[in-house]
This record gives sequence, structure tokens and C-alpha cells, in this order.
Amino acid sequence: MNSERGTDAAEPPLAEVRILAPLTIVIPTYREVENIPFMLARLAALRDRFDLDLEVIFVDDDSRDGSVERVAESGLDWARMIVRTDSRSLSSAVIAGMQAARNPVLICMDCDLSHPPERIPDMILALGAGQQMVIGSRYVAGGTTDDNWGYFRYLVSAVATLLARPLTSVSDPMSGFFVLRKKDFDQARGLNPVGYKIGLELIVKCGFDNVGEVPIHFVDRVHGQSKLTIREQLRYIRHLRRLYIHKFANTMHFAQFLVVGATGTAVNLVVLTLLAAAGLPEAVALGGGIGVSLVSNFALNRRFTFSYARHENIWRQFVGFVGASTVGMAVNYAVALSLISSILRDEPLGLQIAAVAGVGCGMLFNFIGNRFFVFRKRHIVEPIREE
Ligand code: GDD
Ligand code: MN
Repeated sequence: MNSERGTDAAEPPLAEVRILAPLTIVIPTYREVENIPFMLARLAALRDRFDLDLEVIFVDDDSRDGSVERVAESGLDWARMIVRTDSRSLSSAVIAGMQAARNPVLICMDCDLSHPPERIPDMILALGAGQQMVIGSRYVAGGTTDDNWGYFRYLVSAVATLLARPLTSVSDPMSGFFVLRKKDFDQARGLNPVGYKIGLELIVKCGFDNVGEVPIHFVDRVHGQSKLTIREQLRYIRHLRRLYIHKFANTMHFAQFLVVGATGTAVNLVVLTLLAAAGLPEAVALGGGIGVSLVSNFALNRRFTFSYARHENIWRQFVGFVGASTVGMAVNYAVALSLISSILRDEPLGLQIAAVAGVGCGMLFNFIGNRFFVFRKRHIVEPIREE
């Protein structure tokens, strides 16, 4: 059902496409010598058809299979090959190619003819229509894959896509076929991909929430071999973890802060129950519980929640912690004391219930004060560099 162009869609208007050029196409390669001539022929046809200002950069990781010679003998002055000898990774090859690009619109695609270059005009038109990034997608309406995909490959692809769902809502975040603007790429901070999913890395690290999808027909490779091994699949899990920490850093901190708060509440209740049992007045018992739990909370937060700031001066942090918690403590104490002296007076466990209500009200104030003042990050560093 699919035409030469990859889908049945009508060809986009020449003039509009031309306005959106110039383009740089980055193609990571590892042992793709057989595919390079086909790739160049199809790109040349596209270039002629739309009269494109086009630059093609192959980024090869020292394949030594004649790829370099194959590009050179094509005689095309708009295509070149960068050979890296120091690393072997699809994602970092793509990043290197994008850094070397001279044009304002960047395209990433595979060299094995799985990604139809004929879909590029539609993708850049969608980018021009206001998207931050546009993906050539197998799973959006109209997209297809070759029929000989086994159930297992479908399953792996579906699970991988599902795991990325909290990071982006696009239907094919695994795709290695996409376009974006060079200026957005240049602004991405802390690019640190492990493995294959450079598109997903860019969506998260560029902070894109406006990502378009253009349907493609994904063709299985005919020449050469896929380099996507089980090891690469496992790397994806590590990559996901980094992306989750990157995207949900504040939420993760808050979750830990809540757990510490729960232990502090337990400490508070034990202390105030003991003090009340010893015959001290309620106002003193409440205050004592808050005071002791303040110290245990500080110790645990310093050790776990905000462990990135552990090397800094403990006394200064303690003073800051108490200072930042003052409002929360005051809220806590005031709520608890007013409850025990009004509606909870003479209730069974009234003192404990009042204390818990006080803790809840004080907690939000505490988190905000600590996260953004006491334990603030002094340098923006990637949370995790190596496992
Ligand atoms: N420079 C470089 N270094 N290029 C590499 C490397 C590497 O270590 N490994 C693979 N490549 C190149 C290949 O030569 C090819 O051009 C492209 O990256 C994709 O590699 P394949 O081995 O064909 O991957 P795939 O078909 O299994 O995976 C593709 O489809 C996936 C979705 O099913 C890629 O596009 C993935 O990004 C995509 O997630
Ligand atoms: Mn492939």
C-alpha cells in the first residue's frame, strides 16, 4: 500500500520546502559501505527535486570497510564523512555530526534505507509550521513497518515505548529519524546518552513539549546487519533512569523528603507521648516532639534527600535548616496547639492527632525552604555521570 515515498501522501509544494532549507543531514554509520551509494543516490534525487541547499555528514566509527572511499568517489561536494577512532556509539556519533553541522535545520537518519529520505520535505514543513521537533514515525496514523517484523520485535518495541511514556507523549519516541533546529540543539544542556535513543535524549534534554510526527513506512534493512544488540537494549534501561532523574528531579527529591518526614513524625509522636506520660503540660510535650524530630529530620535529609550537598559545612546547614523550618515549625506548633485546646480537647489520642495535623501543615513550608535555600545546588551538574 505504500508508494515510493514511504506513504501515500501527496508531494509537498516545492516552493515552501525550498524556503525552509538549508539542511544538514547527519547519518551515523558503522559498516554501511553497501548502503552508502543507495543512500547518496536517494539524497541526490531529493536535492535535485527540491533544489535544496543540502549538507550531508556521515559520522563513521572507523568501520574500515571502504566507507570513506565510497563517499569520496561519489564526487559529491555536499557530502562528507567524519571518521571517529576514539569511540563507538550511535548517539555520540549523532551529537558529533550535529555539532559539526553548518546549517540551521538538522536531520538525523539511519544509513540502512529504513528511513525514507522522501519524507524529509514533509518533516521540515511540519517543523516550519511551529513544531520544535518532528519525528518520522512508524506508529502515528498512516505509519507502517515491514510485514516481516516478528512478534518478539513488536513486543520489545512496544515495551520500550511504554517505558518512555512519562517522558514524552509521542507515539514513536524510539525513532532514529527526526528533524530539529540547530539553535535548539545548541542549547541542550548535559547531553549524555547511553546507547541508541538519541531522539528521546534530545526531546527530554531540550525540554521539547511540542513534537510533531509524520508517518513513515519503515523498511527493513536489505544490506549489512543491525547493530542493535541485547546489550544495547539493556543500556536503554540505564538511559531511561538518567532521563527520569533529569526530568523529575524535584519530584524525586520531594518523594524522599516525604519519607524522611514520615520518620520524623514517628519520632515526634514517640517523644511527645513520653513527655505527656511524664506529666509535662501539652504545650511542652508538643514543643519537645517537634524539637527532637527537627534534629532527626535534618540528619536524614542531609544524608539522603539532599545528599549532593553533603560535603558542605554541617553547622551552617543546620542553622539554615532550622531557619528555613521556622515558619513550618511555627505553623505546626500553632495548628497542633489550637486543635488540642479546641475541638480535640479530651478526645482519645487527641494530642497525637493534633500533632500529626500540625506536621502536615508545616511540611510543605519546610520542603520549599530547604530545597530552594538551604540545600540549593551551587553548580548545575548532571546527577549521574557513570554507573
Ligand atoms: N557511528 C556509528 N557508531 N553508527 C552506528 C553505530 C555506532 O556505534 N551503531 C549503529 N550505527 C548506525 C548504523 O550504521 C545505522 O546507520 C544506524 O546507526 C542505525 O543502526 P542499526 O543497527 O540499523 O539500528 P536498528 O535498525 O536496529 O535501530 C534503528 O531503529 C530503531 C527503532 O526500531 C535506529 O534508528 C534506532 O535509533 C531506532 O531506535
Ligand atoms: Mn536499521
